[in-house]
Amino acid sequence: MNKAVIYMTRSIPGEAVSVLQQNFHLKINPEDRPVTREELLNNLKGCSGVICQMTDKIDRKVLETAYKYGVKGFANYAVGFDNIDVKTASELRIPVSNTPDVLTDATAEMAWALLFAAARKTSEIDRYIRNGKWEKYSPFMFLGGGISGKTLGIIGAGRIGTAAALKSRGFNMKILYTARRQNSILDDIPGSEKVSLDELLKRSDFVSLHVPAKEETYRMIGERELSLMKKSAYLINTARGAVVDEKALINALKQGVIAGAGLDVYEKEPGLSKEFLEIDNVSLSPHIGSATYEARNNMGLKAAGNITAMIRGEKAPDCLNPEIYK
Ligand code: GLV
Repeated sequence: MNKAVIYMTRSIPGEAVSVLQQNFHLKINPEDRPVTREELLNNLKGCSGVICQMTDKIDRKVLETAYKYGVKGFANYAVGFDNIDVKTASELRIPVSNTPDVLTDATAEMAWALLFAAARKTSEIDRYIRNGKWEKYSPFMFLGGGISGKTLGIIGAGRIGTAAALKSRGFNMKILYTARRQNSILDDIPGSEKVSLDELLKRSDFVSLHVPAKEETYRMIGERELSLMKKSAYLINTARGAVVDEKALINALKQGVIAGAGLDVYEKEPGLSKEFLEIDNVSLSPHIGSATYEARNNMGLKAAGNITAMIRGEKAPDCLNPEIYK
């Protein structure tokens, strides 16, 4: 019997490929780059399911083409799914899924890596040493903001925001958070408070973003919000670039409105505003929040489980539009 075909828009690390090969024929993008729109559309013909990436726009056109060819579902290899038009997928009764939970700690750890990098200027110091500038000791060299005992503001206390907040316990930090509802895990921590966005911005020494990209969160941190932050505060973004008005952030960093930032995500990826490259008080990474061996392996296995269920006509464990099964 012919094996059903799964189209993978990128090869992925870990065990997923070999697990899937036991039951399916995999058609994997051979190039080390995202597929073009044309490649994506062309490859839908003859495949039963797609494992896609956050760089693939799964919009109406793609979904209608998939519907026409009888594709049974799309498993996103990411927890964020702003690249997928879930509403249209539901309309066409095409299941779509993401990879929650398995990358929660990895992404929270990346937020902390950037928090440290921003506060203690590790990227700038590394550049300084590599450029042969370390000639003498100075008590004034690279003074940065302390972390222990400070206030951490978590914007969006969902899974990743909560994990990032919990990791602050070892640093004895006060936790402020915003969320649509009370977070019982954070509420159990003495001193932690659910506050308004403005209050969080005014009181926090570190502001870490953990909201999804949506219409309501588009550029939610702009000039006004940055001006509410302490001059000594740092902004960390491991969520989505669209949450921050990049121009406003660049101005704030240049003018000392805030002390610094750590960024893993940008408004237009791949790539970033070139002005960031000229600013020393920002630490940059290329959207690698979930890039640990463990998380990426488990994301692959999750995507594999989801696409297998979809192809078998079963409800995928991480289905984003379960209403289609009603
Ligand atoms: C990464 O940004 C993801 O959404 O998994």
